[in-house]
Amino acid sequence: MSEKEQAKQQIEELRAEIEKHNRLYYINATPEIADREYDRLLQSLEDLEKKFPEFGSPSSPTRRVGGAPLEEFRSIRHSVPMMSLSNTYSKEELVDFDGRIKKLIPDKKYTYILEPKIDGVAISLRYENGELVHAVTRGDGKTGDDVTSNIKTIRSVPLRLSAGAPAVLEVRGEVYMDTAGFAKLNEARQETGQEPFANPRNACAGSLKQLDPREVAKRPLDAIFYATGELDGISFETHEQMLQSLKNYGLRITPTYWICNEIQEVLGKLDDLENMRHEFSFEMDGGVIKINERRLYGPLGSTAKSPRWAVAYKYEPEQAETTLNAISIQVGRTGVLTPVAELEPVQLAGTTVKRATLHNEDEIRRKDIKVGDKVIIEKAGEIIPAIVRVVTEKRTGKETDFAMPTACPVCGSAIEKREGEVALRCINLQCPAQVKNWIAHYASRGAMDINGLGESLVEQLVDNGLIRTPADLYSLTKEQVAGLDRMGGKSADNLIKGIEESKARPFERVIFGLGIRQVGKRAAQILADEFKNIDALMTADVQTLEEIRDIGPIVGKTIVAYFQALESRTVIDRLRAAGVNFEQEEGSMGSELDGLTFVLTGSMESMSREEAGDKIHARGGKVSSSVSKNTSYLVAGESAGSKLDKAEELGITILDEEQFLALLGSDEKLKDDKAGQMGFGF
Ligand code: IVH
Repeated sequence: MSEKEQAKQQIEELRAEIEKHNRLYYINATPEIADREYDRLLQSLEDLEKKFPEFGSPSSPTRRVGGAPLEEFRSIRHSVPMMSLSNTYSKEELVDFDGRIKKLIPDKKYTYILEPKIDGVAISLRYENGELVHAVTRGDGKTGDDVTSNIKTIRSVPLRLSAGAPAVLEVRGEVYMDTAGFAKLNEARQETGQEPFANPRNACAGSLKQLDPREVAKRPLDAIFYATGELDGISFETHEQMLQSLKNYGLRITPTYWICNEIQEVLGKLDDLENMRHEFSFEMDGGVIKINERRLYGPLGSTAKSPRWAVAYKYEPEQAETTLNAISIQVGRTGVLTPVAELEPVQLAGTTVKRATLHNEDEIRRKDIKVGDKVIIEKAGEIIPAIVRVVTEKRTGKETDFAMPTACPVCGSAIEKREGEVALRCINLQCPAQVKNWIAHYASRGAMDINGLGESLVEQLVDNGLIRTPADLYSLTKEQVAGLDRMGGKSADNLIKGIEESKARPFERVIFGLGIRQVGKRAAQILADEFKNIDALMTADVQTLEEIRDIGPIVGKTIVAYFQALESRTVIDRLRAAGVNFEQEEGSMGSELDGLTFVLTGSMESMSREEAGDKIHARGGKVSSSVSKNTSYLVAGESAGSKLDKAEELGITILDEEQFLALLGSDEKLKDDKAGQMGFGF
């Protein structure tokens, strides 16, 4: 056997071995090897695939995370429409459901199967000859988004089914974020000053919408399958048989289900299922009742949206009664004052609840909430529970009315209500609550990315009077930091190093970090490109700003107001004195692309769109988001979208990836060729 043939065989064996261990780990929960051993197998496969790129395959276990970010999701038509379920909320409705079935198929015998209803996002996966071809969201039921590269990052989803898979197998199921992973993700988001997700379902849906699979890979997603779409070369008699076959192919199925002979039995099992609510790693919002015999699906048929052979039963959101001990006020990142209910601790949906959100003063009035009231709280998918109502019949007369404070509870400053808003705000920009949020934003990953500076450390630094603005960070000493709670000499050193390193961040990140209202990452990038340095930006007038595409008059006014404020100018002066970078780096590699405007579309193998943009900027070129007659080049990668049509229409020069790399220069080409040889290039 030649070296090549040997490598081919070895690659195949390694893939089969890794897939086997995936199944043992994710599907059967009976792992046979240690994680280290598994990683070693994967590494060997990766090495071989790099050496012999001709044997690469999109369904190789090494290809879970990869590919450049997409520009938009491609639409895919479902070969069989993806239906939804009709909901029932009472056992009577379920008995009616059974009555309708009996009427439709009076002389047929049938059984029911009951499964948990997973609160996630519906997905359809298509396998052809055992290989994953695509993964599509439900969309409108007829067409959905192609989220294949995101789904491939879910380790329990097989990229290749076990041997004996049919010609076509479309499986439908639910992608979800497991509850423990969700809690961790939210903690991390809060640490970096990002908005936490309201519940696992939103977090899951948000993750699937990410265009960069590398980001999705960081999210704790999983999937469970419970239905089929198009099938070729296989058929199933019962739903249970189908589930077991999916499991044999290596797909995850529900951890429990019950077969019931009649509806009364289903009603009993629904209670058992409800009692298991907190035992699952996913959020369950009900049960799904399906006819087990698949030959009856045809005769029963479906309505416009849902089949007649299945129905969902939704559980009541979990509620508890407790006492409202007090109402406290939280001051948020923009100075908004939010009332929070301080409750007598109570068990609800598997956790101890001590606080509930009250949103604003109007809501307190509307629900007639008084301090000392007995209240009913509810968790309806949201992680933070809400007060549903007051148990007025339990009032003793000792309850007291609540009034919003007339000054900020954190700093004592005046508060204001802006026109058209219900919220009250603290007017003091130096309010410690606002300052903490501002500094946490400055240090966050998308801005100055200061390693080790999370929310709790910012809190301590502000509370100890060590910092009041981001500029103060640069005069912190190791001794000051080391004296704080849970900070040793080593972590203090690391923090000081992280702060020092942040001075060299690109100009656009500094602009973003300043926290100018309405100036997000993209606007910051545009401003950096346009003005090149802080002095030019600070002296720009509204007219100049509003003429810039994607800035506009409203944001323009906010920017001007920001730079007019003495506080902002002082902070900027001090940041500058500390050595923070306030200039756009002019193409350090030259300015050969000076005066040229690029539009990027589709995905490239060798770099992400962001990297491509950086390289263009570094050479003095500009990047624009839309094609116009001013576009010099359209760089079209894989699956280019409508921009390509537009560029063709306008006669703009179109570059493919190779031509683009050539334009960037010979050193770039060389580097990428090397990458190609190593297996992560073309
Ligand atoms: S069966 C043709 N089974 O709930 C019927 N759906 O509210 C296919 N869901 O669209 C659906 N768990 O996204 C089925 N065990 C389960 C489910 C389930 C969650 C979702 C699914 C469905 C929605 C209806």
